[in-house]
Amino acid sequence: PIPLFIDTDPGVDDALAVLMALSDPDHRVVGLGIAAGNVGLAHTVRNAMKLCEVAGADVPVFPGCPTPLLHPAPDAADVHGADGFGDAGLSPPVRHAETEHAALALIRLSHAHAGRLLLVALGPLTNIALAVRLDPTLPSRIARVVVMGGAVTGQGNITPSAEFNIHFDPEAAHIVFEAFPDIDLADWEATVAHSLAHDDVVEWLAAEGPRARFYDAISHQTRMWSLDRRGDRWFCADALAMAWALQPSGARRVECRPLAVALEGRHSRGATVVDWRRQTGRPDNARLLMAYDQDLFEKQVRDALAGAVPA
Ligand code: BDR
Ligand code: CA
Repeated sequence: PIPLFIDTDPGVDDALAVLMALSDPDHRVVGLGIAAGNVGLAHTVRNAMKLCEVAGADVPVFPGCPTPLLHPAPDAADVHGADGFGDAGLSPPVRHAETEHAALALIRLSHAHAGRLLLVALGPLTNIALAVRLDPTLPSRIARVVVMGGAVTGQGNITPSAEFNIHFDPEAAHIVFEAFPDIDLADWEATVAHSLAHDDVVEWLAAEGPRARFYDAISHQTRMWSLDRRGDRWFCADALAMAWALQPSGARRVECRPLAVALEGRHSRGATVVDWRRQTGRPDNARLLMAYDQDLFEKQVRDALAGAVPA
């Protein structure tokens, strides 16, 4: 199986994405790096451990940075719940997190799996930026990077121009997009184009087994919030990014372009600026997911909620 390191800030959609990865027989999750983002680090670490427990997966959880690199930013507790898992009243996890920092764990694992490691980032890019600054040779050992973030045509979800993960830590995103030559980016607009019908999700959550029950509980509040604000389609950003990460052949259209992150400006901070007409002469550094096989995406989600975790 392909070794996979996931950096994440769970988070309701993160949880689904991680379940998808844990149940994919062609990938082996070698670590979860934990970022602050949707909620604070204490909660995201705890949620990650709880998630592994429910999935019966013995995957090390590495806590990362508790804050963005430079400037404090608003969280997304209004969407994900005060504890990041829909305030479902879960019991505390039994297991403990690792003491190694997420950035150091990523560097170490990039050596252990040099040239083979798949890196998937589902939260703010703080830990990965730190890893790159600690070891600028890191990108050369990563086989593929998939990032959920950005709004490539400028229709953000946290500000009119910016998407949450990039807006939470624009400096980190800048460092990562400068350092990695070829990032696979599943942005917010791809998420919107590949929404899920609430009715379908409810049906999939009725599957037997601990994972569907768990996911039903932690996603309930977020799904109600979404029904109320966004109508009958659910936008599950991290799940789409993970679907593409696990099955690259599911992509139906990908555009390669130079991409930069706006660090300043009241209206533009955190925006992902794509050089669509190649005016800058800069090399392409982003592969933008424009369309994915919707049937395959839905199957991947369904299987993750229903299937058994491989031993
Ligand atoms: C992203 O922001 C977070 O709230 C979600 O977990 C996802 O990673 C979507 O903009
Ligand atoms: Ca996330």
